Amino acid sequence: MENDKIKARIDELRAEIEENNRRYYIENSPVISDFDYDRMMNELISLEKAHPEFITPDSPTQKVGSDLESPHTGAGAKPSSPADRKHEFEQFPHKYPMLSLGNTYDIPEVEAFAERAVKGLGTAFTFCCELKFDGTAICLTYRNGKLARALTRGDGAIGDDVTANVRHISNIPQTLSGSGYPEEFEIRGEIYMPYKAFDKLNEERLRDEDQPFANPRNAASGSLKLINPEEVAHRGLECTLYHMLGENLPFQTHDQALKAAAGWGLPVSDKRRICRDISEIEEYINYWDTARKALPFATDGIVIKINELPCQKELGYTAKFPRWAVAYKFKAEDAVTKVLSIDYQVGRTGAVTPVANLEPVLLSGTTVKRATLHNREQMLQLDIRVGDYVHVEKGGEIIPKITSVELDKRGNDTVMPVFPDRCPDCGTPLVRDEGEAKYFCPNSDGCPTQIKGKLVHFISRKAMNVIAGDATIDQLFSLGYVRTPADFYDLTMAELLTLEGWKERSAKRFLDSLEASKKAGFEHVLFALGIRYVGETTAKSLAKHFRDIDALMAADRDTLLSVDDIGEVIADSITDWFSRPEHLREIERLRAAGLKFSMEDMQKQASSALEGLTIVISGNFSVSRDEIKEMITAHGGRNSSSVSGRTSFLLAGEKPGPEKIRKAENLGIDIIDEARFRAMIADSARGPEPQDDGIGPAVPDQKEKNPVQLTLF
Ligand code: IVH
Repeated sequence: MENDKIKARIDELRAEIEENNRRYYIENSPVISDFDYDRMMNELISLEKAHPEFITPDSPTQKVGSDLESPHTGAGAKPSSPADRKHEFEQFPHKYPMLSLGNTYDIPEVEAFAERAVKGLGTAFTFCCELKFDGTAICLTYRNGKLARALTRGDGAIGDDVTANVRHISNIPQTLSGSGYPEEFEIRGEIYMPYKAFDKLNEERLRDEDQPFANPRNAASGSLKLINPEEVAHRGLECTLYHMLGENLPFQTHDQALKAAAGWGLPVSDKRRICRDISEIEEYINYWDTARKALPFATDGIVIKINELPCQKELGYTAKFPRWAVAYKFKAEDAVTKVLSIDYQVGRTGAVTPVANLEPVLLSGTTVKRATLHNREQMLQLDIRVGDYVHVEKGGEIIPKITSVELDKRGNDTVMPVFPDRCPDCGTPLVRDEGEAKYFCPNSDGCPTQIKGKLVHFISRKAMNVIAGDATIDQLFSLGYVRTPADFYDLTMAELLTLEGWKERSAKRFLDSLEASKKAGFEHVLFALGIRYVGETTAKSLAKHFRDIDALMAADRDTLLSVDDIGEVIADSITDWFSRPEHLREIERLRAAGLKFSMEDMQKQASSALEGLTIVISGNFSVSRDEIKEMITAHGGRNSSSVSGRTSFLLAGEKPGPEKIRKAENLGIDIIDEARFRAMIADSARGPEPQDDGIGPAVPDQKEKNPVQLTLF
């Protein structure tokens, strides 16, 4: 490869790795498997090794993936501006850098690690082999036998202070038992969610129509960063500790340190084993590659550590990893099962996705009954037939995928699937855009599944936030009351009372919720319209840039392309959407119903009631925390994430964080509740005539949440 091409490939890999780091560490919602991620990272490592002139200190090969939600100003510093921080946690520097582990999927590389250690050390030593727990890293500090602080890994130098949450994890002792523990020490480990707790949590989330977590690791890391510590207690998190650090610790080996920790009541796994050579290490690996499937929690490999602490010290660290340890990672678990049938599902945007129904099979602790085949191309590539035995794997996504077909097992009774050429729902011939892998039903305004999908999307929480479920949409659609979103706003009490099972109370609540939705900001309305490729973030950029729908409608392709994050595909989709007369009519109807189609509409409502005030929020409110923050800014206030001498007041919802309350009380800062806060902004926004505060939807019923978009599973 020429140098230009190599540099371009390095840049591409860095961008992809950074994006996947963000999804994995911050959003807790990875989209690729660990194996694919590691493959990209290894390609980048080899390119940089061959071309050290391209190595930069900010390359992902030189730093650990960060779970901090905002950048910081350097070691020992607090984040640059509290207002920049989206999260609730104070950040503190790690006393010792919190690094990651070099990893491999190959036994010969483990052998090479062992040989390097033998050569480098020139003295007798042993290995300590342990399970690699698949959770999220934690660093606990104990002072005088008491849990003093818990920090996440963060970016390795600074971590988020999650002490309040960690105090609700039942197997982490607040106070050590026994005696002989150092006055102060750190012990690091993993917070994980056992399969049982994970299944329960996802069941609850599905019932509440919340997006389920993709895997126990994401669930653990998302739960650890919950704002409400008491909520953490219900998540069933557990901890295992595997690395003790401190000044002058009285141990010769890592194993002794862990034994002592267990004696003080700390959770330490008893599955570790001291190995003398590579054959014992391989034995351990082979044993656990199978045995781990019966464990009640997820593991993704084995960690091999040099056991003697002086040897660890001698080998030291690279910028990213210890040289005294390596992780051998297991390949993703795979199961073989039979394809019973194939469904073709139509989504909100008309995309048709083939989905295989499978003979139920156990995979990574959960029973798999369906797997996506993505698109027609994928089906052809796999050469899949109904009746075939296939390999299923869980990648980064929650939906398992079929990776290959067992052609040797194919019987005579298998049936070749036929990808439909018409929409399975409305019969319209399917189309495929150039360069697209998916087939689409183009009848976007006439295909029942698409119409219902769009209605569900319109009312979803991040869009108009109207309280209703799929069943309500089905009822309203089948009776012909609602065909387009604007029809929602023409509904009457009399019509709703004709719906089966509806009483005056439920009808009133639905109508109130529709009324409240009229206060949703322009960016929510734009997102709610369901223009293909215009997700939440794009809708925000468009609203910020164009300020109102008329300017957006008037924008040509080039103007759209000049907006941040808008590429050709999105620009074409937007111009196409606005070129349709039925969409323009819909906008006029929604505008007439009172929905906000400009940023100015929103600002008119605001006041300067909170001008100059710095407000910290904590706990749960009748609306989302983001909405409360929007209210603060709309009324001239500033939202800050941590209580300090500069805080004007703490706005406390239900179950506020005890640390914040304590800090506010200590500093003599006022603590006010939501009702008082709403009164403050309403008084000022009202003027002489009493009226609603004009910002934020009405108080929704906490139990009844509206659904996420129609999902395949
Ligand atoms: S030792 C200096 N031991 O895996 C690094 N890590 O992929 C010391 N992990 O960053 C880490 N089980 O979060 C160690 N038995 C174990 C582990 C373990 C899981 C995590 C840890 C690490 C990550 C690397």
